[in-house]
Amino acid sequence: MTDHYAVIGRPISHTKSPLIHGLFAEGAGQDIHYGAIEGSLEHFAVDVSRFRASGGLGMNVTAPFKLQAFALASHPSERARLAKAANALKFENDQVLADNFDGIGLLRDIQHNLGTPLNGKRVLLLGAGGAVRGALLPFLEAGPAELVMVNRDLPKAQALAQEINHPRLTVRPYSALDGDTFDLVINATSASLTCQLPPVPGSVFSHAALAYELAYGKGLTPFLSLAREHGSAHLADGVGMLVEQAAEAFYWWRNVRPDTRPVIDRLTVPLT
Ligand code: ATR
Repeated sequence: MTDHYAVIGRPISHTKSPLIHGLFAEGAGQDIHYGAIEGSLEHFAVDVSRFRASGGLGMNVTAPFKLQAFALASHPSERARLAKAANALKFENDQVLADNFDGIGLLRDIQHNLGTPLNGKRVLLLGAGGAVRGALLPFLEAGPAELVMVNRDLPKAQALAQEINHPRLTVRPYSALDGDTFDLVINATSASLTCQLPPVPGSVFSHAALAYELAYGKGLTPFLSLAREHGSAHLADGVGMLVEQAAEAFYWWRNVRPDTRPVIDRLTVPLT
């Protein structure tokens, strides 16, 4: 019997999740159907219940419903609790389990696929929104020498850091980055979605730096262009993170770890 899963978001037409999970299922010999649901802003919980009532076993959740998905879960994971957001749901008996795989997907892409272990590294995170919330805990567990978070709205970043309260996590304004370099610089702001550049000085990129853009499929964004101009050796966008977070959800639902490499290769768009 075919098991049913779906991604819910609004808008949803651009989603790559059905393609990714379809490729995972094909590669792993799993009999699943994975659909896409355009959620309604007022009736998210109803949309989820309807899918569940029709026999759905799990969902991925994307913008703008990650907070609502967390709120309706009966059993959120520690990661989802910290992020106050869920990107995956699993239905078991009368329970709704929720998790957030964005952060570990990003970490796995950086460490495993891009060969950049975080241990002992100086890491700069741009932004303090939902994407950063999901990434902080897995990142700190990977043992960086220092994790610096910058944000335009400084009090927002400070409040988040206070919540996490970790000795290697510090917060600065963008203006306090001059003269400092990092091994890894991650653009976790939403600036690239509108083709904008966060106010980060080009001097943060060292020659060995990996510059990572969380957005995917946008080519050479203003952030990646800046990194290249300042001699950054490695540039990456978020396609690997997208596939790796999907793989974590697939494993959570199916107990089978899919092969991500061919899927990343298939979805990669050159950074030009
Ligand atoms: P997400 O869930 O994608 O992280 P979010 O919670 O709306 O979305 O957060 C967006 C992040 O991008 C915020 O950190 C925001 O900075 P502020 O909190 O200072 O607003 C950041 N951001 C958006 N546009 C930006 C820009 N042009 N320059 C710098 N930061 C930007």
